[in-house]
Amino acid sequence: MTTDIDDLMKKLVSLCKRRGFVFQSGEIYGGLQSSWDYGPLGVELKRNIEAGWWDFMVSTRPDVVGMDSAIITHPDVWKASGHLQHFHDPMVDCMKCKSRFRQDHVEGETCPECGGELTEPRDFGLMFKTSMGALEDDSATVYLRPETCQPIFVNFSNIVTATRQKLPFGIAQTGKAFRNEITARNFIFRSREFEQMEMEFFCRPEEAGRWFDYWVEQRLQWYRGLGIRSGNLRTRKHDESELAHYADSCVDIEYTFPFVTGGWGELEGIANRTDFDLKAQMEMSGQDLSFQDQAGNQKIVPWVIETSGGIGRTMLAVLLDAYREETVEGRERVVLGLHRDLAPIKVAVLPLSRKLDDRAEEVFRMVSPHLPSQFDVTGSIGKRYRRMDEAGTPFCVTFDFDSLEDRKVTVRERDSLGQIRTPIETLVDTLKDILASGWPDECGGA
Ligand code: GAP
Repeated sequence: MTTDIDDLMKKLVSLCKRRGFVFQSGEIYGGLQSSWDYGPLGVELKRNIEAGWWDFMVSTRPDVVGMDSAIITHPDVWKASGHLQHFHDPMVDCMKCKSRFRQDHVEGETCPECGGELTEPRDFGLMFKTSMGALEDDSATVYLRPETCQPIFVNFSNIVTATRQKLPFGIAQTGKAFRNEITARNFIFRSREFEQMEMEFFCRPEEAGRWFDYWVEQRLQWYRGLGIRSGNLRTRKHDESELAHYADSCVDIEYTFPFVTGGWGELEGIANRTDFDLKAQMEMSGQDLSFQDQAGNQKIVPWVIETSGGIGRTMLAVLLDAYREETVEGRERVVLGLHRDLAPIKVAVLPLSRKLDDRAEEVFRMVSPHLPSQFDVTGSIGKRYRRMDEAGTPFCVTFDFDSLEDRKVTVRERDSLGQIRTPIETLVDTLKDILASGWPDECGGA
């Protein structure tokens, strides 16, 4: 079996539906374009990515604290940040085939798809607005946040006062963001509702360059730790013309997404935002958001290094990187070689025969309070292994007729197909050990 790069996405999208990772939102009504619902395995994978990020960026660091802001935000936040002025793209529509393009992406006045005539450019607001309260006039307009970082700047003084952090320190947040993207496509790569993982690291201006380099390195290390192959990751520095209105410098961490022209697509941006945001929010609000530097006995507006990634986009990279098709002992199988820490199901307990269901279920009940696990009795044992391979489950525990006598079960490892026979009594500890430190080489495999 070979995996043609062109149909890799089709196969992955199909697997995501089949195994319950991602569904088209509103599918029974024909689907809501570029909107996705996460199923039982998808939500676990997403939560594992987010929890891993929080652990790496917040819980294990004394110099980063977290927050969780409201999604519906005060309109002045987005006036101050520049979103209301800058966050729109002039668009043109083809009058013949109805395709829509960013004006700066087309040359001339004819459609690149069909040669049809294009409309005059029109502005396209990327922020979702709604009304708060009973009236729907302009005074009631509020916005769904298009990024999670601005509420961090708005809460800067609250957090400094509450936590007494000293420079340098970071504030982190994960959560939903909303953008009325014109060209939302490529599955969960670009959607209109998505989740971000952002951290703003406040430091003295003269130290910003050093911290920028530090965070690029840290973030790259985090993606490698998810099991993504190093050769499929790279960093790319933005040139002047690409920089966002707030950024002094920016490096993207990119992944080899198969659908991106040129082969590399953005996973995360690390930006030196200078003091742009704090100053802008200070000016708009009239509040003092500067930092009282005890050491120098002076007030300073810190500079900010931002790390900004997407959960859905990380999940797509992880899935693409893990997907493989192979032939083992003359049989074809599809495997999601997910890192053990990310796998939604860590252990599947499988009776070899229906006659063993009850006894195998006892083993499942022993394991399930300790590890995310599943009990599967449907279909042949071969079919159940294949299902678990596709779900990315690293270990299958098989209860067979010998288990009745020797009180042992077989643990099979997903990638190597190596097996060990282990006592039921100590099974939970054995599984915890191999989940923590990996499958021992001496246990072999195919
Ligand atoms: N605060 C800076 C900021 O939001 P961005 O480059 O616009 O920067 C950061 O977004 C990250 O958020 C991207 O690298 C990507 O992972 C994710 N992201 C942005 N727009 C997205 C979308 N429409 N769908 C999915 N993920 C998105």
